[in-house]
Amino acid sequence: MFILQKDDSVPLYKQLYNQIRESILSGKLPADSRLPSVRDMAIELSSSRNTVDGAYQDLFAEGYIYSKPRSGFFVSALDQDSSPQAMPVKPGKYDYPPGPPSVFTYDFHPARLDPDSFPTELWRKCFVESLRRNGQQLVQYGDPQGDWGLRCSVQNYLERSRGVHCDPEQVVICSGLQQSLDIVSHMLKEEHSVVAIENPGYHLPRSVFQKHSYTILPVPVGEGGIDLNYLKAGRSTIVYVTPSHQLPLGCVMPVANRLALIEWAESDGRFIIEDDYDSELRYHGKPIPSLQGLRPNGNIIYAGTFSKILSPALRLSYLVLPYPLVAKYRHLYRDYFSTVPLLEQRTMATFMEQGHWERHIRRMRIIYKKKHDTLLRAVEHNFGTHATVVGQGAGLHVVLILPETSHSEAEILDRARQKGIQLFPFSAFHVTGQPEAVTLLLGFGGMNDEDIERGIALLARICLNKLLSANPE
Ligand SMILES: Cc1ncc(COP(=O)(O)O)c(C=O)c1O
Repeated sequence: MFILQKDDSVPLYKQLYNQIRESILSGKLPADSRLPSVRDMAIELSSSRNTVDGAYQDLFAEGYIYSKPRSGFFVSALDQDSSPQAMPVKPGKYDYPPGPPSVFTYDFHPARLDPDSFPTELWRKCFVESLRRNGQQLVQYGDPQGDWGLRCSVQNYLERSRGVHCDPEQVVICSGLQQSLDIVSHMLKEEHSVVAIENPGYHLPRSVFQKHSYTILPVPVGEGGIDLNYLKAGRSTIVYVTPSHQLPLGCVMPVANRLALIEWAESDGRFIIEDDYDSELRYHGKPIPSLQGLRPNGNIIYAGTFSKILSPALRLSYLVLPYPLVAKYRHLYRDYFSTVPLLEQRTMATFMEQGHWERHIRRMRIIYKKKHDTLLRAVEHNFGTHATVVGQGAGLHVVLILPETSHSEAEILDRARQKGIQLFPFSAFHVTGQPEAVTLLLGFGGMNDEDIERGIALLARICLNKLLSANPE
């Protein structure tokens, strides 16, 4: 009646469990019918008793079968309305890859990380250790603001590496920037209604603020970051900035501008949201210290993430709130629990406490610097004087300006797609206006050196074909 496939990647006991469960749910095995003894079933299947015992134990634990002393196992009566729908068991069901395969051979999306960089073994060790050490915490709701140990580790790291001065009381563990900004928007909307954002700038914060009914004031970005005169002339009372590595142009806000921005915020109860998303990745010199560190008691809300160095899939980020907002946060969110699973928070804390996080940052900096340098060499080699690179030396992307190309951004993206190249549209970063020349964003985190070189060579052909045929170098 049941057939086990020895070469299937699904363990034998699980195959048997699936098939018996299926028969019970479909009614083929009626309630109270007796299952063969473990020994008989093992003989029938030519398998070991452990296989049968494993399947029966799982079915028993989940209530599909019940046992009678000295009589064996029987099928439970299931309430058909509440029993889960039987799913057809597809052969090789567990062999599917985890997601749809990328159709792009050359993926220049700026959010891609090195595919082999996740420290799986270390993470597993920290996970197991956290599981072993925190059994008692797992039967409780954790601290709504985030696990205390992780908040201490984050505070410690930020103080040493990013020059952020805060207490763990000010740290809130979140599940990504959107959730962080949801919280901030919620806290500030009673007294604030206009948010200034960088133009061009990261497109996702804009959408969060809009959903909270804020008016968006796009402020131009120059070499020194957001245009302060423009900002001061507007009526925004909150500003969202990426001062240590502006997204997308890559500029660093000089200290004089930072101080002027702080003064703007302090003069009238305004707020700065500092998004410090990838400052660890600076390839020459030291990382630029945070803006928050210049005025720890100022109106600065600091946002950071583990998405750029470790994994965007973990959905782990954090906020550092100024003290007056901590009280407000606790009041507003007193009925909410943390959105980040405790085990993940404890694993991250263990990873940090044992020094793996900072070693991992150093490793990633070396890996990404190599890719970054390969990309710059490939651009120089293939585009020569026909392109200008902006924002190099940090992060996971650079910007390429093509003043001479005869194609539009849309044409380039389309042709690139046909050649297996994924490009994120630079125009998505603009709220208003467009760059004077066609501008491309080149993320390099997800590709190996060979693909970066081949991808850039192909891209140069797409962008410059007319130029090169008219003026062969
Ligand atoms: C400017 C900026 N901030 C923050 C993030 C990280 O967001 P999250 O923590 O939601 O993954 C990103 C990711 O691409 C980003 O580009």
